[in-house]
Amino acid sequence: MRIEEIWPPFGVVLRCEDIEMRIVRQTDAPELVDVALGGVHDPEYMPFATSWTDVPAEELPAQTFRHIGTGPARVVPEKWQLTFLVRVNGEAAGLQDISATNFPITRTATTGSWLGLRFHGRGIGTRMRRMVCSFGFEGLGALRLESEAFADNGPSLAVSRKVGYRDNGTEIDQRRGQSAEVQRVVVTPETFVSGPPPVMEGVEPLRRFLKITDD
Ligand SMILES: CC(C)(COP(=O)(O)OP(=O)(O)OC[C@H]1O[C@@H](n2cnc3c(N)ncnc32)[C@H](O)[C@@H]1OP(=O)(O)O)[C@@H](O)C(=O)NCCC(=O)NCCS
Repeated sequence: MRIEEIWPPFGVVLRCEDIEMRIVRQTDAPELVDVALGGVHDPEYMPFATSWTDVPAEELPAQTFRHIGTGPARVVPEKWQLTFLVRVNGEAAGLQDISATNFPITRTATTGSWLGLRFHGRGIGTRMRRMVCSFGFEGLGALRLESEAFADNGPSLAVSRKVGYRDNGTEIDQRRGQSAEVQRVVVTPETFVSGPPPVMEGVEPLRRFLKITDD
């Protein structure tokens, strides 16, 4: 059997112009570590609650590998996380994930992402979010896609707003040991501002695997 037949997430491909997204594999780690070593954010500003980038440079490769989190145990119909490696013109640029609990019932999923610093500010974050939303809504039949960012994460919230997310309340989390406000956002098929439709491969086998039915 081919690996895509054994493990349908590996058969999923999203393509749009120069961007290609496939479920990350352990063999992608060397490229992703290079991206992470080039920086993911300004060291002065921490965008993540789980500050996986706050380690000495010599620990970052293993930390990035840990963060990729491709363990098959993370994908069962009741609870899954699909983490896409984002390539721009074939070059690894960052990760875009989508995760859900009880998706066949809730039809709700959550997204998160990061890009290497040199890919920031070129519209790639917006395009990959639109691609994963198209995959969520049209591919998987989601009714709501949620996200969140620290309230002072201007670029992340700007991407959400461009893609049609609306504010969905706030909460308080910790960041580097300090309290920080989190802005939650939500997008529905009605508010979604899509881009050019991505070409999607491997969606039907994935739906069967995740026990997502048509109704
Ligand atoms: C969040 C992230 C994925 C966005 O990707 P990106 O490719 O830089 O985003 P884009 O270029 O598509 O869009 C960024 C938008 O933010 C805007 N922006 C930039 N800095 C901003 C700020 N300080 N305040 C408000 N808006 C800002 C830009 O003007 C742009 O909007 P525009 O196209 O309308 O001009 C990327 O910045 C990143 O990886 N950041 C570090 C990790 C992170 O924060 N992840 C999200 C955690 S919730």
